[in-house]
Amino acid sequence: MFSDADAAALYDLIYPWDAARYPSDAFYDDLVMAADAVLDVGCGTGSMLHHARERGHSGRLAGIDPDRAALERARRRTDVEWYEGTAADISWDREFDLATMASNAFQCLVGDDELRASLAAIRTALRDGGRFAFETRHPQARAWETWNPGDSADVNAAEIVDASGRVLRMWHEVESVAGDVVTFTETTAEPDGAVLRVDRASLRFLDVPALNAFLAEAGLAVEGQYGDWFRGPVTGDSRVIVTIARRT
Ligand SMILES: C[S@@+](CC[C@H](N)C(=O)[O-])C[C@H]1O[C@@H](n2cnc3c(N)ncnc32)[C@H](O)[C@@H]1O
Repeated sequence: MFSDADAAALYDLIYPWDAARYPSDAFYDDLVMAADAVLDVGCGTGSMLHHARERGHSGRLAGIDPDRAALERARRRTDVEWYEGTAADISWDREFDLATMASNAFQCLVGDDELRASLAAIRTALRDGGRFAFETRHPQARAWETWNPGDSADVNAAEIVDASGRVLRMWHEVESVAGDVVTFTETTAEPDGAVLRVDRASLRFLDVPALNAFLAEAGLAVEGQYGDWFRGPVTGDSRVIVTIARRT
């Protein structure tokens, strides 16, 4: 009733890559355009790398993601390399100047083992001195507390019109908070509430000390860590932890 391809198309409609509107997108664009070879981990539908090519990036651009339907959309551009796989599956050795995990993709790395394997693989893919840039929602902001049906702060709580003119409703619902792992559902429905699709996901909310311990263990030295997209410090009010770490 609502296929994986439909869901991937809807993602692009709800979250367009737009540096003029979203400072997060501008932050990544600047890093990507300044790097010769870029690996986007958890690239999803590929919009960040599409945008880089459109802006004239002439170096190597590669994206990897385990979601086949999202990758199908990414593959609409053939002048970027696309790979199906997780971060832990990465097997390049010293090929990239920059690795990214944009739009909180990093939070999909939930278990300690997966996190360690992913960071190790990303580090290996980087050239000496190469950088890994990513963000993760700061647990202190407790973003998941607004992921509830009818919550006006839930970005998808409103009605959405998809590319074919179909009217949809989307909402989130938290199922559990276990330590720093939040499990929630995303429901896509008809306007009358008839459910078309329910997706379940878990995200990890690491705080700064825990995050930096994983990075250090992986041989990634924190070069910059910010509490907003304008490179301000992480404070008691920050909603995000933006990190640039360098392969040591
Ligand atoms: C919120 S989306 C972000 C997509 C894209 N980076 C963007 O900016 O639009 C998170 C992505 O992480 C991917 N993902 C989930 N688990 C992953 C893993 N273990 N390794 C790499 N990517 C993963 C998902 O398939 C999804 O496409």
